[in-house]
Amino acid sequence: MRDFPSYNSEKIFITGENSLNGKVKISGAKNAALPLMAVSLIINNGFTLFNVPDLADTRLMSSLLIDLGITMKWQNGKIDFNGSPKKEEASYDLVRKMRASILVLGPLLVSRGSAKVPLPGGCAIGTRPIDLHVMVMEALGAKISFDTGFIVASIGYDGLRGGTINFPKVSVGATESAIMTAVLAKGQTKITNAAQEPEITDLANCLNLAGADISGMGSNIIIINGVNELNKVDYEVVSDRIEAGSFAIASSLTKGNVEIDNVNPNNLDKFLKVLELTGSEIEVTKNSINVSSSQRPSPIDIVTEPHPGFPTDLQAQYMALMSIANGKAFIKETIFENRFMHVPELMRMGAKIYVNNQEAIITGVRKLKGAKVMASDLRASMCLILGALVASGTSEIDGVFHLDRGYENLEDKLSNLGANIKRSM
Ligand code: UD1
Repeated sequence: MRDFPSYNSEKIFITGENSLNGKVKISGAKNAALPLMAVSLIINNGFTLFNVPDLADTRLMSSLLIDLGITMKWQNGKIDFNGSPKKEEASYDLVRKMRASILVLGPLLVSRGSAKVPLPGGCAIGTRPIDLHVMVMEALGAKISFDTGFIVASIGYDGLRGGTINFPKVSVGATESAIMTAVLAKGQTKITNAAQEPEITDLANCLNLAGADISGMGSNIIIINGVNELNKVDYEVVSDRIEAGSFAIASSLTKGNVEIDNVNPNNLDKFLKVLELTGSEIEVTKNSINVSSSQRPSPIDIVTEPHPGFPTDLQAQYMALMSIANGKAFIKETIFENRFMHVPELMRMGAKIYVNNQEAIITGVRKLKGAKVMASDLRASMCLILGALVASGTSEIDGVFHLDRGYENLEDKLSNLGANIKRSM
């Protein structure tokens, strides 16, 4: 097993201007797999996940769970989990590498009665506080304190009890924390202003199959009636809508024709409507999306929003498309305060972008030109890959270890569609 990537000298080289054609199969969703893996801390009598993507982030989560005492067999996208956590303290060395590690806090508390989790490190795309996760624990009856960089949570003899959680802000991770912590608490929990992302529905569906009583997922009010135990369950992780959206943009950008398989188009509704307005042709079936384009994209403005709005995780990739649009497009990022780090790098390829705080105006150019660029975070890396696919000449993309956090077999998938892409030192 490769270690979680930190900076290494691997680079991706892309010689652009090949149009992409063919079929690509989308992997399981990273953002659904991570909370589902954390569920192994509260289902102790056998739990199997299918369609788990092999990514640096999922490997890191598995290391974290193994360190806590869970046994795990991972083969061909299937993970069999067994056992229960043997300690309360999550490893600093692991947690600091991935913000989503905070997802173990609630399940560890439920399982052990107390939990000590390091504060996850800062993140390039913003400060990303954890106050809403703490609010969840307190609303459900946990005592929280902070001790030299750790969050320490504990519950009294009465155990956790249901409560009302009125989120002041929509948070995917905190909604997941609330569900995983309330599922075995006594009584009813009501979450208002809950996140509505498909990955939350996936988490709730899995828990319900294990015997939980959760309703309202997919809407902004979720009700959880606590149950006494969760049973053995087999569950297949939903497919990755962000990976699917990234391939859809790759097809549009390169005037290609790509069938994107193993994806639920309903989970990308807003994004696909926007892509269609830019001039791409889109055909959907129950579990596939065909995207083709024969024209320069029209400029369409977007504002990122919690689901069902335009996803922040596709903002950078969409900006690559707008960089060659036939006019000016406006993009407003409302979820994270520092999510335009791809802009100066895309400008090295010749894009014309003006940024003012959370807003960007992109004046489409006819052509991007291959350049040496540096990726700054996961989705920014994909933005640069997309820019390079349509640019003339060869681009050299540094910092690609970010890509390994969220895109499974990206080079193989792109070269099967006709891209000229290789990775080397
Ligand atoms: C998840 C996704 C990430 C996606 C994001 C928004 C995973 C593993 N990651 O991240 O890919 O970009 O949703 O769709 O699923 N916030 C607080 N306090 C908190 C928690 C969050 O203020 O305690 C803020 C954040 O700083 C951000 C906003 O709430 O401004 C939304 O963040 P959140 O939805 O929690 O993102 P994550 O769950 O970290």
